[in-house]
Amino acid sequence: MNTRLIAARALSRVLQDGQSLTAALESALQTVESGKDRAFIQALCYGVCRTYHRLDFVLSELLDKPLKDMDVKALALVGLYQLKYMRVKPHAAVSETVLAARKKPWAKALINALLRGYLREQDRLEQKADTLQFAAASHPDWLIKKIELDWPLQAQQILLENNQQPPMALRVNLARISRDQYLQELSEQGIEAVAVSFCPSAIILDKPVGVDLLPGFTEGLISVQDVAAQLAAGLLALQAGHRVLDVCAAPGGKAAHILECQPQLKELVAVDIDASRMQRVSDTMQRLKLSATLVVGNAANLQDWWDGQLFDRILLDAPCSALGVIRRHPDIKLLRRAEDIKPLQALQKNILHAVWPLLVPGGIMLYATCSILKQENEQQIDAFLAEHSDAVELPIDAAWGFAGSHGRQIMTGELAMDGFYYARLGKLP
Ligand SMILES: C[S@@+](CC[C@H](N)C(=O)[O-])C[C@H]1O[C@@H](n2cnc3c(N)ncnc32)[C@H](O)[C@@H]1O
Repeated sequence: MNTRLIAARALSRVLQDGQSLTAALESALQTVESGKDRAFIQALCYGVCRTYHRLDFVLSELLDKPLKDMDVKALALVGLYQLKYMRVKPHAAVSETVLAARKKPWAKALINALLRGYLREQDRLEQKADTLQFAAASHPDWLIKKIELDWPLQAQQILLENNQQPPMALRVNLARISRDQYLQELSEQGIEAVAVSFCPSAIILDKPVGVDLLPGFTEGLISVQDVAAQLAAGLLALQAGHRVLDVCAAPGGKAAHILECQPQLKELVAVDIDASRMQRVSDTMQRLKLSATLVVGNAANLQDWWDGQLFDRILLDAPCSALGVIRRHPDIKLLRRAEDIKPLQALQKNILHAVWPLLVPGGIMLYATCSILKQENEQQIDAFLAEHSDAVELPIDAAWGFAGSHGRQIMTGELAMDGFYYARLGKLP
């Protein structure tokens, strides 16, 4: 099948059905064997999501009335994306995209007219897009306002970083191989990479590569994980004999890192509400040859899953807006709504309150989100501390992020990391 058509169909699942791009691409790519075609389809889909709000504005300028047919709209966006952002020759971009619409003759003519119209009026349309903030920054208005409200000085930089392609970061399993040794193995394969000074397990690759090309991936020597996410395990101050709870654990990146960091834990209990995501935790544990107690359940309903024994450490990597990982999941800009934030905040609060009693006196709970919104981060912790007289905030002395009123915030793109938030809470003995 035509690669542009496959990309447009995947994008249409996102635009029309609200499916995540990851899920839409997973099924769209099932029948595509050529690595080159897969890469092209992925580049189109990620690119269109990254630049969606700008492309959509340009499209609206070229149309008399909005397109109702989402498959055709997605194909028009795929065409415009190639013309503005890809090194595809314009005549090839137009003719191949028009060809992809061949099953709908009306759409074929429309796409042809739209793309040719864009080529004629490109300068005027792009200049107009530059004057409108949502189009220039390619973000929805509500999100720009929210980011500006929380981070007036950093907002422009955050918007820019959200539209960058993130680097590929690896976590070396230090229980199995040293980072220097693994860097040597990469270099022998001709893969350029650097160690991250402030995170002992982390490596950043010069260019992303497929995991099948990484030495020792199948054997569990390394995992793919952003550097910000690799900071969690260190903040837990794990010791041999600890019983640890990872309360929103899937797909299991941080749970596996906890076990790699401290192989002599008494037990790691990993809880997640989503059974299919929990299967991914199980697969990861198997690949890394690690073992944990996996429980599918609602973290906020203790009677569903808790065995009555306390934990020395709790990681609560809370469900959140994920606004810190937009560069990895640009479809978040299309799918997230302003009204999603409050229910997420309430869910985070419920889980925080529910699991706090499970921590031993003297224990540590690490609260984490991949969000940059104060509502989900420092304001959440502020409210929690006000309601729990047995909780104190423990300091995070680090060469990354910055201290807010509570916890430590990493801004998207800072030191090449995703946007992330950590707060350490200690329970008074
Ligand atoms: C940010 S992700 C966790 C990522 C994970 N810690 C890792 O490092 O791979 C949040 C997880 O919370 C889970 N979740 C959402 N609501 C939950 C609830 N009420 N109880 C337990 N898990 C929940 C989601 O299924 C999702 O897997």
